[in-house]
Amino acid sequence: MVAGPRDPKGAMDFRARSELFACPRCSASIAVEDAAFRCLGCGHAYPIEDGIPALFCPNEWGEGKDDVTDRVRSFYEETPFPNYDDFDSVASLAAKARGGRFARLLDEQLPPNIRIIECGSGTAQLSNFLSLANRTVFATDLCMNSLRIGRDFAERHGLDRVGFVQMNLFRPAFRPGSFHLVVSNGVLHHTSDPFGAFRSISGLVKPGGYVLVGLYHRYGRLVTDARRVLFRLSGDRFQWLDPNLRRESTSAAKKRAWFADQYQHPHESKHTIGEVLGWLDAVGLRFVKSIPISRPFRTFADDERLFAPEPPGNALERTLVELGMITSGSREGGFFIVIAQRPPETPAPSA
Ligand SMILES: C[S@@+](CC[C@H](N)C(=O)[O-])C[C@H]1O[C@@H](n2cnc3c(N)ncnc32)[C@H](O)[C@@H]1O
Ligand SMILES: [Zn+2]
Repeated sequence: MVAGPRDPKGAMDFRARSELFACPRCSASIAVEDAAFRCLGCGHAYPIEDGIPALFCPNEWGEGKDDVTDRVRSFYEETPFPNYDDFDSVASLAAKARGGRFARLLDEQLPPNIRIIECGSGTAQLSNFLSLANRTVFATDLCMNSLRIGRDFAERHGLDRVGFVQMNLFRPAFRPGSFHLVVSNGVLHHTSDPFGAFRSISGLVKPGGYVLVGLYHRYGRLVTDARRVLFRLSGDRFQWLDPNLRRESTSAAKKRAWFADQYQHPHESKHTIGEVLGWLDAVGLRFVKSIPISRPFRTFADDERLFAPEPPGNALERTLVELGMITSGSREGGFFIVIAQRPPETPAPSA
């Protein structure tokens, strides 16, 4: 799976949006030039590689803190995720996305003309899909190969409202408070500091805007953890125990990407709804909803209103719901989602 030849006529016009960008090193404004993005403060030049501005900036955490960024980046450069094999047209991408309840509801409920950033977009299937309804979307990731695949799809199909940017989510390349929605699905648990990552991406949301994160759940992941041990002990036999790996309709390439992501990843952590509630408090966001819904017997509806606030439930209620993820999580990789809002009355965060 490699990116094909470029057709830049379908590409986003970054110059027209230069005011959104900020230098990931010093936070100053950025000038968009033909071959590079140039910081007007520190002067650093960020090259544009195949139409993708390379605004990656490494963490500067010092010796004491482990940093998995390079390991995770190499892993995804090898195995870009998710795979695009099923999609040869915008219609097939949209049909697949609408088949999943969550992407369909997002698309139905997000207004047009808003600005979205996906932090850790991978190959950007969600970003490409959400841009179809006249939204401006930035797909950002560490991994150039993933971004090239997403960009290749966008340019081939003339999706010029989605832009691809190489960026480390700990060192954002955008001005604080620039987005109506910040999405980071399946990403923060692959970093050395999930809370620090959450704090960093939530700085990008406007007052009144939303942050949506998908994370591995401590209980939801138990069955996957058990399978991983079994696969390792048995030399990767018994792969049929994973429903995604035994599905006949799934291509071999897709199965390889899923297997690598689920069972061979260099780094993952697991979390709970209660833990994320603590993160929200610490950064001044308001809980809106979790999936699964954080109270027992309150199931997620087919027409669930994703941005309608819901009480978070108490610790006992959440634990009951989360224990149910031991079985439900085994099918879907053990994810939970939290949607939160920056209260409209708060000032936009500063750099
Ligand atoms: C499991 S993939 C998820 C992709 C996509 N969000 C999805 O749901 O299909 C995780 C992605 O997070 C990216 N990632 C991990 N750490 C990151 C960081 N510090 N900054 C930006 N992206 C990061 C990886 O490169 C990878 O593409
Ligand atoms: Zn700078």
